[in-house]
Amino acid sequence: MNRQSDPFVAQTAAHAAQAALGAPLPHESADLHVSGEARYTDDIPELHGTLHAALGLSRLAHARIASLDLERVRAMPGVVAVLTAADIPGENNCGPVLHDDPVLAHDEVQYLGQPVFAVIATSHALARRAAALAASEDVVRYEPLEPVLTIADAKARQQYVLPPLRLTRGEPAARIAAAPHRIAGTFAVGGQEQFYLEGQVAYALPEEQDGMLVYSSTQHPSEMQQLVAHLLNWPVHRVMCECRRMGGGFGGKESQSALFACVAALAAHKLGRPVKLRADRDDDFLITGKRHDALYEYEAGYDDTGRLLGARVEIALRAGYSADLSGAVATRAVCHFDNAYYLSDVEIVALCCKTNTQSNTAFRGFGGPQGALVMEVMLDSIARSLGRDPLEVRRANYYGIGERDVTPYGQRVEDNVLAPLTDELLASSQYAARRAALAAFNRTSPVLKRGIALTPVKFGISFNVPHLNQAGALVHVYRDGSVLVNHGGTEMGQGLNTKVAQVVAGVFGLPLAQVRVSATDTSKVANTSATAASTGSDLNGKAAEDAALAIRARLAELAAAQHGGTPGEIVFEDGKVHANGQVIAFADFVEFAYMKRVQLWSDGFYATPKVHWDAKTLTGHPFYYFAYGAAVSEVVVDTLTGEWKLVRADVLHDAGQSINPAIDIGQVEGGYIQGMGWLTSEELWWNRDGKLMTHAPSTYKIPAISDTPAAFNVQLYRNENAEPTVFRSKAVGEPPLLLPFSVLLAIRDAIGAAVPEAREAAPLVAPATPEAILDALDALRARTASAQAAAPIEVVVK
Ligand code: MTE
Ligand code: HPA
Ligand code: MOS
Repeated sequence: MNRQSDPFVAQTAAHAAQAALGAPLPHESADLHVSGEARYTDDIPELHGTLHAALGLSRLAHARIASLDLERVRAMPGVVAVLTAADIPGENNCGPVLHDDPVLAHDEVQYLGQPVFAVIATSHALARRAAALAASEDVVRYEPLEPVLTIADAKARQQYVLPPLRLTRGEPAARIAAAPHRIAGTFAVGGQEQFYLEGQVAYALPEEQDGMLVYSSTQHPSEMQQLVAHLLNWPVHRVMCECRRMGGGFGGKESQSALFACVAALAAHKLGRPVKLRADRDDDFLITGKRHDALYEYEAGYDDTGRLLGARVEIALRAGYSADLSGAVATRAVCHFDNAYYLSDVEIVALCCKTNTQSNTAFRGFGGPQGALVMEVMLDSIARSLGRDPLEVRRANYYGIGERDVTPYGQRVEDNVLAPLTDELLASSQYAARRAALAAFNRTSPVLKRGIALTPVKFGISFNVPHLNQAGALVHVYRDGSVLVNHGGTEMGQGLNTKVAQVVAGVFGLPLAQVRVSATDTSKVANTSATAASTGSDLNGKAAEDAALAIRARLAELAAAQHGGTPGEIVFEDGKVHANGQVIAFADFVEFAYMKRVQLWSDGFYATPKVHWDAKTLTGHPFYYFAYGAAVSEVVVDTLTGEWKLVRADVLHDAGQSINPAIDIGQVEGGYIQGMGWLTSEELWWNRDGKLMTHAPSTYKIPAISDTPAAFNVQLYRNENAEPTVFRSKAVGEPPLLLPFSVLLAIRDAIGAAVPEAREAAPLVAPATPEAILDALDALRARTASAQAAAPIEVVVK
């Protein structure tokens, strides 16, 4: 395409010339992404002598390793070395919190797919061929142990990776018992593979004086640095970790990039040669953890309007074989059960069930979606039992003003925009008219049934581990007026570097083209937190702003001294410095400052105020603020085949005052579609030996572009953050993942329309695959036909 004539490029170029902050500028690497020029870890030109690693995986879910006989592996073509746990000089661990994740299994394997040895060979293909011998009985001999494979089994044995979490407020049991209406049920939601387009990869290069440079596709370079140092028994300053960008992380590279970084570094250290480890997609699926699947038991008491009087829930999460980040995930699940609703009397229990499967980890939303989903399902069931529109029941329970504004964990909801946001969305989506039209359609359509649902989101922003809420940056202004920004965050496609560059450009009044963001590098900014919890731009934007403001203050002081007036009166705008009637080009003034020996670079730091948390009582102020949103989704379901289609989606999402509306809308669209995949088509299935059988796109169905609805109306809610965040913006990365709860409930609505006489909701589980839809339809028909239709709702768990 002729880029000059592209109206979008022309329009955004015009924006770039104006103020960069708040403009819908394209992603800083958009051109590179679409042309294929963006450099990912595997694209880094390989140094002469580079070797390639592959992992030999456990073929059993639980077993003692009786013996390893690796001679046949060593004799394979191209093999240079085969490494085991015994080769690790320091700590054999890549776990982020508890040190319970061996890099290479020692003594025991705890899931099918666990790495037991690493093959280092002259090519990627030869390494993989040799590593595949891990499947032969004469290479790894096991004494099988009994595996525990399901949440239900682990729960029955009370087998947990961490002690259960319990948060209680008021007297839920008594309030439920005394309520005019009661509901009790179970529900289940599946896990979800992150399916980053770029798989896990690390490239380690030994350096002089026992140094190690690790290129890692990671959300957490500082943790990679630390774990590699501990593995090699080195002080941390000998390891450097760099990440230019990831081809997606979605939480899957918050902690679990470590295994790959550690193996590459171990091999590079042992052999004194550069070593790359890039997981094949199937291996990536088999080795790494996913979103936690969950089983729920809930009960609630409510009044005639559907207002909750008391509620109890047990959320049993599948942690997998080790703790990883499950404690924080479960805590976030506990803190999101309320979603948008005030719960006066409530008990929330979360269990981290230990199973012989992959160690589940962060995935967009980080337990928040698992916490809030069951609330939305429960409210929807309550509405059906009362014969009311679920929307009315939701609004009756919304956090309000005054008395009804304190969360179960004790934080006041101070910035609540749920009611006006919902009203605006109801109007723009024509919810009421469409609901009526839908009912008319369903009366005359015997096979195709339509369904609609509106669900809201309230999502807490901050790491729920308070000390992680800090960030650093380093800003350099060069003598020609060009600016380089280093910050501790990582770019995974979410547009963090673009936003941070916009913030810095805004401080100096420069066009965006004058600001460049470097690769993330542990030698530039130390002790960083993962880019996670949606806090990337909140934290790193503030740190970079802090650094840029320090430099600007020095320049303003010089300008005032030179041209008169006070430093506060100096204006940085349109690439110029305005000082007491004088207008000087930014570059010229910077060169002048250099000659005057003014420091033209600065560090910057930010620590989120207000956050605190008591992990014992599960109370405090874990979130700096909340982000809000709501979606109306309409589906049509074929009640003969279980196939369905999303017809239209209307989304209104609160990103505060957006730093970049184009990027934020992209995040909302992406989060919505990704969440829809989780709840409808993405199904993880382990066979009875504990082997994950859905480990490639052939068997694991992520949404495609054809799954986006023809009418997809995504708007940002006009708002600004009540807290003084950077540009009064709000984090936007994760909250939209909860918006497609409305898709699941619209499907349930459509199933209900096929059994109009039913007085209860269809027992639909997630993912709502066509099979699950037909099962729910059959069950609803059977129950409605039987005399027990009035019994309490019991949702069948697969
Ligand atoms: N968007 C893209 N394109 N790729 C990703 O990997 N990860 C999500 C979200 N959006 C992700 C994404 C997750 S899990 C998080 S926590 C945030 O981005 C992290 O980035 P932020 O804090 O800068 O928003
Ligand atoms: N999100 C992501 N990662 C985390 C969190 C969180 O809330 N808390 C600790 N690690
Ligand atoms: Mo996102 S799950 O916090 O990486």
